[in-house]
Amino acid sequence: MVFCEIGSMKMLHKAVIVLLSFVVVLVSVKGDVEITEQPLSKIDIHSAVIDLHDGAFVKAYPSVLGVNISIFDRKTALTDCLGVFGIVLCYIRRTVNSADVERGEDIEWVTVELKHPKSSNDDWIGVFSPAQFNASTCFVENDPKQQSPYICSAPIKYTFANYSNAGYAQTGKTTLKFQIINQRADYSFALFSGGLSNPKLVAYSNFISFKNPKAPLYPRLAIGKSWNEMTVTWTSGYNIDIATPFVSWGVSGQRATRSPAGTLTFHQNSMCGSPARTVGWRDPGFIHTSFLENLWPNTKYVYKLGHKLANGKYIWSKKTYSFMSPPYPGQESLQRVIIFGDMGKGERDGSNEYNNYQPGSLNTTDQLINDIDNIDIVFHIGDIVYSNGYISQWDQFTSQVEPIASAVPYMIASGNHERDWPDSGSFYDGKDSGGECGVPAETTFYVPAENRAKFWYSTDYGMFRFCIADSEHDWREGTEQYKFIEQCFASVDRKKQPWLIFAAHRVLGYSSDKYYAAEGSFDEPLGRVSLQKLWQKYKVDIGFYGHVHNYERTCPIYQNTCVNSEKSHYSGTVNGTIHVVVGGAGAHLSEFAQINTTWSLYKDYDFGFVKMTAFNQSSLLFEYKKSKDGKVYDSFTISRDYRDVLACVHDGCEATTLAP
Ligand SMILES: [Fe+2]
Repeated sequence: MVFCEIGSMKMLHKAVIVLLSFVVVLVSVKGDVEITEQPLSKIDIHSAVIDLHDGAFVKAYPSVLGVNISIFDRKTALTDCLGVFGIVLCYIRRTVNSADVERGEDIEWVTVELKHPKSSNDDWIGVFSPAQFNASTCFVENDPKQQSPYICSAPIKYTFANYSNAGYAQTGKTTLKFQIINQRADYSFALFSGGLSNPKLVAYSNFISFKNPKAPLYPRLAIGKSWNEMTVTWTSGYNIDIATPFVSWGVSGQRATRSPAGTLTFHQNSMCGSPARTVGWRDPGFIHTSFLENLWPNTKYVYKLGHKLANGKYIWSKKTYSFMSPPYPGQESLQRVIIFGDMGKGERDGSNEYNNYQPGSLNTTDQLINDIDNIDIVFHIGDIVYSNGYISQWDQFTSQVEPIASAVPYMIASGNHERDWPDSGSFYDGKDSGGECGVPAETTFYVPAENRAKFWYSTDYGMFRFCIADSEHDWREGTEQYKFIEQCFASVDRKKQPWLIFAAHRVLGYSSDKYYAAEGSFDEPLGRVSLQKLWQKYKVDIGFYGHVHNYERTCPIYQNTCVNSEKSHYSGTVNGTIHVVVGGAGAHLSEFAQINTTWSLYKDYDFGFVKMTAFNQSSLLFEYKKSKDGKVYDSFTISRDYRDVLACVHDGCEATTLAP
């Protein structure tokens, strides 16, 4: 009976979310506009002025988030029992386990009512966190020319007041729904007139907050420096002087053990430039990483995040999570890998310009969540969040991918939107990181690099060896990174780990994207010049790239020439490396050049991701799936024996003597 009620409760909870999402989509009144820059950067927040209007108001509720209805007072609960949603909430109230009340929930829908007697279609609502957003919180640069603004931090999200009500400009009244995640501070909702470029503050709301803003949240897994070590990284508001972080974990069904966690953070002066150092700055909280060691292979483990306070009390994560430990390197078993780049984040409430910045992101995320039981490890190869200096977006991304990253290792690579900033050591001198210069990426996610500021690493997963490069640092012959790449290729025993994979964010291989075609080289300038001899010598199977937002697969290729005429079922010696662009996981799409090369076998101008399945040491299945339906649109197989990997290919022969 209890299980039945919990199941029904979950179904009702899902139904509410689906219904709210449907309402949001149904009443959207803005058309599609392609947005190629961070939407928050369109707000000229520094020039905001005060224009408070007595007849205007903004009201937000509930005022306390992350609590269950069962601890609301009787009057509130009775109000909530009215209407369709009220009946659902009251049902949840009756079925809740009292222990859940103490566990911090991290996501909630908030209702915002507003009225503006001088309404117009330029009116917009900004969600601010911390809720206090006037000049008292401003970080003052030591520059006498700089005037102190009224508001110095961008909202964490925004939407136009007419989003769910086309008649808003006439009536001056509307109700909006925002999905708010726990970001360790309180929230307020401010109404502005004057559009994004000339904001005038008309009214602001009451402050609302999660019951425990400091709660441990958003766990993300990554393989450690050895195959039998899983790292758990999460975010909280507890520094080590307040509480001791740890992970309680163990084999499912057996006694749990505890492992300590390290704690990191970064500061406003850790940022290299604006907006990360100015209007985009937001305190990232504390990032904890625990190392779960000596795992048994292919074993289900359960884990919980914990903080022990000085008074002996424990704060726990909202639930117990689980993962399967990696297989022993070389072990034959079913192994399934997801790879994509450039996913970014979306907003399920339609805010931030209706998700047109990364329109495929939520679809990709949802396809992976739906298939999570058939996924063993994920690689997101750069351009992770597209926060571009708006630090609040990192929490929102880790919240979005939590159902994936808390269940399977979520391995990332560094892209231009994580790292690039002038005069900061990045190989490219652009400003794509918005002043972050790699700091949030290198802190928020763990990768098993020797130095996380140099974002290259190798990792083994059963029959796979992955060599992950960092295209935002120099990779050419003679560099530190080049030595790493060769060492990664050379040190793998292909009898045991036959599937050798290279990945980098920018296209160091081949792409028909119009910008690369215009270069004439069909890759990042100097991209493959020094690498192709390594791919050939060490018989790398597949090279993956993002950066351009589409999908493309080449023939097995060496020095611009196809070295195998087969297109979908490779058997025996493959002869060259297959290069795959899989940068269409979410961000706005990139166009292909109007040129058909001999080496390009499949191109797709759509959102999607790749899944590789190794059945054993002789059989690999490669599939490209679209994010909108999860169906396979391109695929190939490789069937071969160990002797086919050893076989001599052009510029890939071991030395022999004439002696018998
Ligand atoms: Fe990129």
